[in-house]
Amino acid sequence: MTRPLNTALDGLRLSPIRRFSDLAKSTPGCVSLTLGEPGENTPDAVSAHVGADLAAHLTHYPPNNGYPFLKEAISGWEAKRGLSYAPDQLIVTDGATEALMCALTIVLNPGDEAIIPTPAFLLYDSLVRLNRATPVALDTTPDGFQVRRDRLEAALTPATKAIVVTSPNNPTGCVLDDQSMDALADAAIEHDLYVICDDVYSELAYKSGYRRLLVAHPELRERAVVVQSFSKPWAMTGWRLGWAESTPELISAMAKVHQYAVSSVPAFLQHAAVEALRTDTTPMRESYRRRRDVTLKALEEMGLPVTRPEGAFYAFPDIRGLGLSSEDFCERAIREAGVALVPGTAFGAEGFARLSYACDKDTLRLGLERLSGFVSTLG
Ligand SMILES: Cc1ncc(COP(=O)(O)O)c(C=O)c1O
Repeated sequence: MTRPLNTALDGLRLSPIRRFSDLAKSTPGCVSLTLGEPGENTPDAVSAHVGADLAAHLTHYPPNNGYPFLKEAISGWEAKRGLSYAPDQLIVTDGATEALMCALTIVLNPGDEAIIPTPAFLLYDSLVRLNRATPVALDTTPDGFQVRRDRLEAALTPATKAIVVTSPNNPTGCVLDDQSMDALADAAIEHDLYVICDDVYSELAYKSGYRRLLVAHPELRERAVVVQSFSKPWAMTGWRLGWAESTPELISAMAKVHQYAVSSVPAFLQHAAVEALRTDTTPMRESYRRRRDVTLKALEEMGLPVTRPEGAFYAFPDIRGLGLSSEDFCERAIREAGVALVPGTAFGAEGFARLSYACDKDTLRLGLERLSGFVSTLG
């Protein structure tokens, strides 16, 4: 074939997270602190429903947006967390990934701009490009990974259509403070922007007083799509289950993309998803908080500056003082010390590396020891 493929693909790269995790896997004995993948297994009580549903032949096409029993359970779960969305304001998706894809697809036209506070999860940039729109990185590095009004205003143009918000953040683990949320809310209203609110780590926030953007700013509801996932709080990354909640109009629009892209999520996973919502996330959150403390102490002993993560399971140490690019740092850490991190460039931030402490604590301790040894050779 000589005809060109869709040119919207030209600006997209495959995830560098996968590249570094594959490099770690192919390096014998390497300890991988690369993936945002809980070391725990899905709770047995959740998995048990799948066998029962298969035995009951729940194997036919389910309703596109999810079974009513699951949408009701999600609606009740969210209401307890201060966000009231009726079941018809919800769509069950193939992970947050598909929810983000649907949200950005219904909002963006070619030529529109979407502001992405950066460092950020690479998916947003790629989905914006796929829609022939332009991602605009708003650098939060000088402000301790917070959004400040002056920089936000400088990023806005007449073409700005949407803004993506993630708190707790991947890769920094930082939680947006009130000043950040106020600035974002004011800009969204003043400039009539859609807000795509990626809350996949909201259950794993350990900062006291943490508030989700839509809880702090309910006036954003008419313009916001909230994206959620079963992946992180219940260690269900492989199930590929998430959801989005918004106004009935935006959900109906998303349902078109969802219907033609995936039709629905598997029928026999949906009772299990209800069980997950009944499962307390406190032990997971506490366990990550303890691993965060171990990680911070070790990074401090290594002399690597880091902004304190307040949620998720990532730390994003500053390696600018070590005289290496983030890619070189991570490649050499794998080859010379047998420990793998992800370069900051994977998240739009040179001079940093992402360390995931989602793995079990023995792996984490070994990885931190090796990282410490490696850093000491660079001093
Ligand atoms: C910030 C953020 N959003 C979305 C996702 C995608 O989650 P899911 O597994 O539900 O597709 C991830 C996965 O790492 C993430 O870190």
